[in-house]
Amino acid sequence: MKKYFLLTPGPTPVPPSVSLSEAQPILHHRTTEFGKYFVEVIENMKYVFQTKNDVLMVTSSGTGAMESSVVNLLSDGDEVIVASTGNFGDRWEKICQSYKVKVNKIDVEWGKSVNPKDIKNILDANKNIKAVFTTHTETSTGVVNDIETIGKIVSATQAVLVVDTISGLSGQKFLTDEWKVDVAVTGSQKGLMCPPGLSFVTVSEKAWQLVEKSQLPKFYFDWKKMKKSVANKETPFTPAVSLVVGMHKALELIKEKTIEKIWAENEKLSLACRAAVKSMGLKLFSDENVTCTVLTPVLMPEGIDGQKVVKVMREEFGISIAGGQDKLKGKIVRIAHMGYIDRFDLIVAISGLEIVINKLGYKIELGSGTKVLEEMLG
Ligand SMILES: Cc1ncc(COP(=O)(O)O)c(C=O)c1O
Repeated sequence: MKKYFLLTPGPTPVPPSVSLSEAQPILHHRTTEFGKYFVEVIENMKYVFQTKNDVLMVTSSGTGAMESSVVNLLSDGDEVIVASTGNFGDRWEKICQSYKVKVNKIDVEWGKSVNPKDIKNILDANKNIKAVFTTHTETSTGVVNDIETIGKIVSATQAVLVVDTISGLSGQKFLTDEWKVDVAVTGSQKGLMCPPGLSFVTVSEKAWQLVEKSQLPKFYFDWKKMKKSVANKETPFTPAVSLVVGMHKALELIKEKTIEKIWAENEKLSLACRAAVKSMGLKLFSDENVTCTVLTPVLMPEGIDGQKVVKVMREEFGISIAGGQDKLKGKIVRIAHMGYIDRFDLIVAISGLEIVINKLGYKIELGSGTKVLEEMLG
């Protein structure tokens, strides 16, 4: 039997009280009892998103909510901007292309953030742009984008701003209304401390106007059906009942702690993790001034394969961190510090990283990273 430590940037560990609430006998979804859980989840998600806009729940992982945004806002042949900083920004492009939406892509070098001026230039030159799609915290590179400035630019135009905050929400500051985000998308399995399987979207008045004109095909992901059902305290189809009950509990925990304290705590863990990595003689992958606070991307030294590091940490020590994706495969590892992950989990992960990189032949002074964590987080 091996003890298991989960520090991947999704899924993340689930608090025992959330797991226990999910283990309750299954409720039927057309009952007052379930309806109460559901509407409270929707209301509490408004707090987490910091919005007064409509919040809709989708029974799918985060990508489903991303796809629902494309099909509910757009029509065949519409033009959009995708400002991509990595693998998940690229996902917006792939979804749009699947529906024959014309993409003006801003392809940012991985490890750097979007320059909001690049978005402004395209919007100034092309008044046909219907939507701007981008990412809050780009999980593949560890970069955070300046959504506040992007929001100022996009809100002054006819286009709507659609932001993927699947890994950022309830981890790093995100203010849907104040930053003028028309549609924000998130998933249950990261900062929200639940198992994968639920996602949420916020929809502004400006976005609803586009929904009225949208002609892309949709059935299961139809936002109008979802909105009508929320008003009746139910969902259009059978929801993931147990996950909703678990989410209800997780949101209670978040509200009890307050979202501001969660942002502050994640920032503290993030600063300590970066300092630990540097004191081990390793480098961060992304520019530090735009590194997000929900995960730390660590560049592997010459001759060390990041995929192997991840494998040995998991198989020998039961510590799960993530490797690099796509062109970063083998080159980086990613350590999450969001949701239910705490300072001692981080000490375990950094300790495992020190041991495993040494085992693989690159000299790191044992204790050089953990000492910094103990000093900064103790
Ligand atoms: C920023 C971001 N966007 C999109 C996704 C995709 O979400 P899912 O795997 O829940 O479909 C992820 C998941 O890792 C993510 O971190």
